[in-house]
Order: sequence, then C-alpha cells, then structure tokens
Amino acid sequence: MPDSPANVIVFDHPLIQHKLTWIRERSTGSRAFRALMKQIAGLMVYEVTRQFPHAPVEIDTPLETMTGTRLLGTITVVPVLRAGLGMAEGVMDVMPEARVGHLGMARDEQTLEPKAYLNKLPSDLDAGPVILVDPMLATGGSAVAALRMLREAGATDLRLMCLVAAPEGIARIHDAEPDVVIYTAAVDRQLSACGFILPGLGDAGDRLYGTVED
Ligand code: PRP
Repeated sequence: MPDSPANVIVFDHPLIQHKLTWIRERSTGSRAFRALMKQIAGLMVYEVTRQFPHAPVEIDTPLETMTGTRLLGTITVVPVLRAGLGMAEGVMDVMPEARVGHLGMARDEQTLEPKAYLNKLPSDLDAGPVILVDPMLATGGSAVAALRMLREAGATDLRLMCLVAAPEGIARIHDAEPDVVIYTAAVDRQLSACGFILPGLGDAGDRLYGTVED
C-alpha cells in the first residue's frame, strides 16, 4: 500500500489498477463495466477485512484436531444505491455470510446535495463491522449522509469502500467522520465545476445500468 492521507488506504496492486483502467475507459460498455466493478470490489475485500475481529477456533479435520480462525460478529455490507450495488455484488461473492442493508441516495445535479430515498437497514448494526460501499466519493455529501444514517441506526464499527475518491470528498469525510477508514482504488486529481471526479470514470450508476444519455 502506498503512502496516503491518514485513514485512506489506496490499492496500488497492479491487478486492481489494470481493472480500474479498463473501467475508466470511455469505450467500456455496461456489461464489462459491471463485471469489472464486481471483480475489483471482490479483490478489495481482502484488505478491508484485515482488521476485522477474529478468534481461534478448534476444529476437526478428517485426520486430527487443529486450531483454525473464524471471523467474529455479523458483517453488514451497505451499498449506496444505485452504483453501490455493483460493488456489493463483488463483496458478497467473496463473503457470502455477510448480510446486506440498503441506502438509496440521489445527488441533486444542481445543488450537489444528497437526497435519501431509501433506508432499509438491519436493526442490530452494532453486531459487527459495517462496510459502506459506493464507487464514487465526489463531494462526499452522499457518503457523509450515509455514514450519519448508519450511526443513527446503531453502527459503531464503520469503514467506507469506493473505487475513485476526490480529495474534496476525502477531506469532507475526515472532517465529519475522522475515525472512518476510506478504502479506495484511486485518489483522483479534483472535482469539476459540476461535481464530477476528474479524471474519474463518469457517472458510475449510469454506466453500470446502461442509462447514459448522450
Ligand atoms: C453518485 C455516486 C455517489 C454520489 C457521489 O450517485 O454513486 O453516490 O453520486 O457524489 P457526492 O460524493 O458528491 O455525494 P448518484 O447520485 O449519481 O446516483 P446513482 O448511483 O443512482 O447514479
């Protein structure tokens, strides 16, 4: 992992960077975009879960007894709709025992303020680690609002996983939620005047679901 701002873990692994480069490419269509997002999210899970609580457990192999390792608590993955769904699929492939809570959030294109339209979370979010997933961290408005909703619902052990983060969004999370670690495949240069990450990958939700309008 390269040096990065406090509480930001950037994945410099060549395989993740190779896939991220394809996902950024304008000519990559929805089908490949979805597959790549899922694959990258699955690869990121290994690092995101590194600090998860775990304990030794005694098991019987077919030949003898040994001490293995089991994760503790109930892991909850929370995608921010729509685009977060694409990453959640990859996380669930690797960690099928996790459960999924949903937050629906749409960013007003004029004010750039997030508007919540769905909140479907388990009631015992303090039962274990919670991973918030959203491929884009732009102004950080959606992520800060989502983290607030998770705290209000009882979450205590939180981290954020995204594909591309803008420095502005990282700063906003650090101000509002200094304890939340951000895992991202890239920290991009800046936000455009209309709030798009540059160079970025465009509108992740639209590219994921084929709703891009030219
Ligand atoms: C995008 C993205 C984030 C948010 C990031 O979602 O997936 O949720 O914007 O922007 P912010 O950091 O400035 O809040 P969008 O509102 O476009 O919804 P969608 O996923 O349904 O396309």
